[in-house]
Amino acid sequence: MKVFVTGASGWIGSAVTDELLAHGYAVTGLARSDASAAALEAKGVTAHRGSLDDPASLAAAAEAADAVIHLAFNHDFDNYDAAGRTERTVVSAMLEALEGSDKRFLFASGAAGAATGRPATEDDPSPFHGPDSMRGGSENLALGYADKGVHPVALRFPIVHGRDGDPGFVAYLAQIARKQGVSGYIGDGSSRWATVDRRDAARAVRLALEKAPAGFRAHPVAEEGIPTRELAEALGKRLDLPVRSISPEDAPAHFGWMAMMFSLDGATSSEITRKTLGWEPTGPTLLDDIAAGAYDA
Ligand SMILES: NC(=O)c1ccc[n+]([C@@H]2O[C@H](COP(=O)([O-])OP(=O)(O)OC[C@H]3O[C@@H](n4cnc5c(N)ncnc54)[C@H](OP(=O)(O)O)[C@@H]3O)[C@@H](O)[C@H]2O)c1
Repeated sequence: MKVFVTGASGWIGSAVTDELLAHGYAVTGLARSDASAAALEAKGVTAHRGSLDDPASLAAAAEAADAVIHLAFNHDFDNYDAAGRTERTVVSAMLEALEGSDKRFLFASGAAGAATGRPATEDDPSPFHGPDSMRGGSENLALGYADKGVHPVALRFPIVHGRDGDPGFVAYLAQIARKQGVSGYIGDGSSRWATVDRRDAARAVRLALEKAPAGFRAHPVAEEGIPTRELAEALGKRLDLPVRSISPEDAPAHFGWMAMMFSLDGATSSEITRKTLGWEPTGPTLLDDIAAGAYDA
């Protein structure tokens, strides 16, 4: 089976690509630069040169594949609305190309936003609709194609951590702690982050490709919710920095755009995903990774 993976050179996408190759899939990966194309080709991936700004090219690659895993995203948090609109345009173009094909279309999403006061479950619909909402409302758009001859599956990733160069949220939090000289948490630090090891996440994506029903919202979540206070304490201990509560009023100045994410309660259940996919995470926890020095530099 030939799978078109966008974001194949990224943090999650490179692990997903390795997982697919190890299980006999042929992978075509989107590459927007010579460096990304070379890295993909070195591991046996066919590079499809293109960019999120060229939806027609992505639609053609999607049509030529047997399945699509869409993980590319422009993480410009200073211009997040534009990134969301681009996401919607690209997702729309690929879905239109796949209409009536019954092909699988797996795409990255996030579990945050259910705001129910309990861990989000796979049955909670995304509250985001329309091009100006979070990620361009792409989750609802894509899942709607289950009625149009596409097999869509949402991959609602939590915080995806690991020891080999995580460029994401935890690395940014560690950077803020070093810059501020204090490892902070907001208020009483009771808001929680759900997490998963990168390779466990990749295995869940491969199993979702193989087993998830159309319209499924997969939660590749290992730890349902680590209190942000514990996260700040682990970073403070490892980085030898004091740990302190930052008031919600001071949080935007201290954390920048991360304040919003760090104050949201992102607790997320994965019970339905584990049963449906037969997936069990086995990798280290985020606190293990922090203690092992994964976020030192
Ligand atoms: N990491 C997490 O904790 C987390 C949590 C929740 C959801 N997610 C979602 O999961 C997906 C994958 O995340 P990630 O952590 O793997 O992200 P990442 O490491 O930032 O990788 C992003 C990928 O998108 C590609 N890309 C970015 N802009 C592009 C453009 N304009 N044209 C073509 N390709 C472009 C990058 O290519 P280059 O390699 O060439 O830069 C890279 O392959 C994203 O949708 C993300 O929002 C991630």
